[in-house]
Amino acid sequence: MALTALLPQAERAFAADVRAGLMRSPQKELSSRYLYDTIGSGLFEVITALPEYGVTRAEERIVRSQAAEMVSRLPAHGLVAELGSGSGRKTRWLLEAIGRRHPVTYCPVDISPTALALCRHELANIPGVRVVGYERDYLDGLRQIVSERKGAMPLLVLFLGSTIGNFRRLAATRFMREVRALLQPSDAFLLGVDLIKPKYQLLAAYDDELGVTAAFNLNLLARINRELGGQFDLRRFAHEARFDTDTRSVDMHLRSLDDQQVSIPGADLVIRFERNETIWTESSHKYLAEEVAAMGEIAGFRCDGQWIDRIWPFADTLFGVG
Ligand code: AVJ
Repeated sequence: MALTALLPQAERAFAADVRAGLMRSPQKELSSRYLYDTIGSGLFEVITALPEYGVTRAEERIVRSQAAEMVSRLPAHGLVAELGSGSGRKTRWLLEAIGRRHPVTYCPVDISPTALALCRHELANIPGVRVVGYERDYLDGLRQIVSERKGAMPLLVLFLGSTIGNFRRLAATRFMREVRALLQPSDAFLLGVDLIKPKYQLLAAYDDELGVTAAFNLNLLARINRELGGQFDLRRFAHEARFDTDTRSVDMHLRSLDDQQVSIPGADLVIRFERNETIWTESSHKYLAEEVAAMGEIAGFRCDGQWIDRIWPFADTLFGVG
């Protein structure tokens, strides 16, 4: 019997995606969604504290200083859904501001159980706030939250941290349109997006001196070894970050340091790498602030406010519906 037959459903999906991604030609790829197992989620938390990675601190400055102002522009939201909750640290400021006005149910949606656990821990015990996690894809989770809501209770959807940057530009607008389609007139959408900045800053942010981002990236191969019995020798791959001026994205790759062949029994795969061939693992698209507002409008939202951090250019944009 093939090893794959013994794996639970989540691991079968992982195996199928690994197999399809590594068989791609000419560019092998692995989806960035698989970066966030327990070890990857932990490493990402460390990345957010690195001096080179200004993204998380920028948004924290915005949310922390503007939470009261943001919340004052919203109708009484009894329901807050957060897509890709991560640790939930920035969300605390918003939930505290909302919880001061009225009781609220906070629904983090994340495919990573580790992220949900971190976030449940971080946001426990805020007065007036109840936490209910959804271990789902973003749109599946949001669909379920919307279907469960009682009456006309207004919903605030949070998509922070520039997670939307992982989508290609067109896919990002399409995603916003899908979110918009699930919302009603008194609902709102708060979107955090990292802005274009000098290339040297962007490259340093995704290739830090300490090597935490390298470990975060290489953990994808380590995860394949752990979960699918893969035989990757991590020392024969190197982390790489590039800025693509056409797509305006920082792209992460793993570069094979020699000609090699790797077997991954759990994905029914033996795969060859040429020296210097890469696996594309993630893209983080960077935007202009006005581009974010325009995308929202194309997706059917109305722009109700935008806050920008000047130290590390980053924008939080509040969109209304109807
Ligand atoms: C969590 C997707 C916003 O793209 O900046 C950090 C992930 N990758 N360093 C980003 C990441 C490398 C991060 N997001």
